[in-house]
Amino acid sequence: MLEIVRNKPQYWEFIRHLKNDETARTNSMSDHMIQVGEHRAYMSVHNDKYYICLNNSIPVGYVGRNAQDYISVAVISGNRGKGIGKYMLQYFREQMSTQKLRAIVSLENPASLKLFEACGFIKKYYIFEGDEND
Ligand SMILES: CC(C)(COP(=O)(O)OP(=O)(O)OC[C@H]1O[C@@H](n2cnc3c(N)ncnc32)[C@H](O)[C@@H]1OP(=O)(O)O)[C@@H](O)C(=O)NCCC(=O)NCCS
Repeated sequence: MLEIVRNKPQYWEFIRHLKNDETARTNSMSDHMIQVGEHRAYMSVHNDKYYICLNNSIPVGYVGRNAQDYISVAVISGNRGKGIGKYMLQYFREQMSTQKLRAIVSLENPASLKLFEACGFIKKYYIFEGDEND
């Protein structure tokens, strides 16, 4: 059974590992491997901006807003494509219904593009970079 709970320190390492997942890093604006200490410092400030999705009490994904206030969402690799991302993002939209939400999604991340569109988000801008390695 899926449920969404508020973030707390016991989930911080789960989030860090998921942010460091190879696909998640490839799809992110930054492919930096997040270290334990920096993540702990980050979470001490931003803990309340994240929610955890549990499947029968086991963490399978997270959704939240990062330090730049962009949505950050990820599902563990074996559980992708089963509706968990959509479940989390719909929940998050409802929770944040009074707030302006935004996300930056790579053109090379069809799963995420589809996810945001399926949850009613509208493509509004392109971000241009000077070099494909930027
Ligand atoms: C992006 C991500 C969170 C999507 O979560 P998910 O649980 O796999 O997605 P869902 O199963 O809820 O699917 C959501 C929608 O995307 C579609 N979709 C899912 N995977 C897809 C894929 N690989 N290609 C195309 N569409 C896909 C689904 O069909 C669904 O659309 P629908 O409701 O119109 O049928 C997940 O793939 C992930 O964790 N990726 C790595 C981290 C990442 O890229 N995060 C986003 C950074 S912006």
